[in-house]
Amino acid sequence: MKKIQIQSELDVYDDLSELPEDVHNLMLAAFEAREAAYAPYSQFHVGAAILLDNGEIIKGNNQENAAYPSGLCAERTAIYYAGANFPNAVIKMMAISAKAKNKETLTPIPPCGSCRQAMAEYEVKQKQPINIYFMGERGTVFKSESLQNLLPLLFTQEYL
Ligand code: THU
Repeated sequence: MKKIQIQSELDVYDDLSELPEDVHNLMLAAFEAREAAYAPYSQFHVGAAILLDNGEIIKGNNQENAAYPSGLCAERTAIYYAGANFPNAVIKMMAISAKAKNKETLTPIPPCGSCRQAMAEYEVKQKQPINIYFMGERGTVFKSESLQNLLPLLFTQEYL
């Protein structure tokens, strides 16, 4: 038996103002998306914005449902829209922001496991990394250069 170590690396920005201009703008689009989230059950509003290589910005937010599991996270709403409408475009980056209704959300909120798996599919498909920036409603922003940092040991089509 031997052990292996898997490392992840994230960049940490103290707040929005430290981000490069294009990322800052994308995060503002994620804020806008967040404001329009439909989250009457959890009151947890999430917005995601995607920048494509053609300059297009795609926004998505969480869409909840009275039949709870029928709802969908912001990240998948956005990335499936991108996949459906711009199948040949390269996804350059995704910005994510989340805000709870009844408390301040100051720590970066990472995408859930299902969203990471969904995003990884597109990263593998396009053979180019997707930069992921995520934050709460304000404060610290985390950046992951690629899905590989957030979801090591990816399950991909090569196993099928
Ligand atoms: N949610 C997202 O939109 N993205 C995530 O990555 C985590 C969770 C949503 C789903 C649900 O509408 C609410 O947040 C509470 O889980």
